[in-house]
Amino acid sequence: MSGKIIDGKAIALEVRKQWKQRVIELKDRGILPGLAVIIVGSNPASQVYVRNKIKACHEVGIHSELIELPEDVSEPQLLSTIENLNRNTQINGILVQLPLPDTIDVNKVLETISVEKDVDGFHLYNLGALMAGSTIFPPCTPYGVQCLLEHSSIPIEGQNAVIVGRSNIVGKPMALMLLQKNATVSICTSKTRDLKQFTSLADILVVATGKPNLITADMVKPGAAVIDVGINRLDDGRLVGDVDFEGVKEVAGYITPVPGGVGPMTITMLVANTVIAAEKANSSV
Ligand code: GUN
Repeated sequence: MSGKIIDGKAIALEVRKQWKQRVIELKDRGILPGLAVIIVGSNPASQVYVRNKIKACHEVGIHSELIELPEDVSEPQLLSTIENLNRNTQINGILVQLPLPDTIDVNKVLETISVEKDVDGFHLYNLGALMAGSTIFPPCTPYGVQCLLEHSSIPIEGQNAVIVGRSNIVGKPMALMLLQKNATVSICTSKTRDLKQFTSLADILVVATGKPNLITADMVKPGAAVIDVGINRLDDGRLVGDVDFEGVKEVAGYITPVPGGVGPMTITMLVANTVIAAEKANSSV
């Protein structure tokens, strides 16, 4: 068996068309959705991600503002920048690119973003709402994975979903979203004893650990949907995920490539959340 490659780039372009239409409808009402993106320091990977987010906004007609702060920005300065954006009526969504320097308390930063503008879905309120199954802003990466599964007509209800990685950004929200769709969910970590014992039961395997080649063909159930959230730069410059793509694609039913799998969908869901934020902010206009 050779797995069907899920073309995240193509699906993202198709999904973005719907959101572009929603932006046109807002503009017809005189409303221009706006996203502010804050980046601290010069992490090369973060710079690429942020550039791509701004580009996607431009493509669908969302106004965007990039705020670049130096690595040594103080926490009060960063919090005050966010508070100004909270008050700015031109801005519907605020995103602070992670990671932040160790000198800054990331939780404090995320809690300062207004809940109504938290298009990353990282505020405690939005994470709590996700727990209760009623969030407005699902975190973009797991939301993108869910959208890829649905777009590829991969069933979720009743399936065994195994998630490797328990980050607040991907693993934990992914588990809640799949649980909400009635999957049977297991969360594994880098400390899980005999990881293969779990992964080989997965109908849906989502991997987000930052460890190249962690998942090999012998760990995958034939026909499974394998979603690789990892993005790792190897010493030779190549970009790879956490899954041994060449080996696993021979066993899996579906597999996402890196790059061109989950990444473009993360950005698409950011666009979606920003449009929703603008619609909600203007729901009585
Ligand atoms: N760093 C890695 N992924 C993300 C993300 O989805 N949002 C933000 N803000 N930072 C990230």
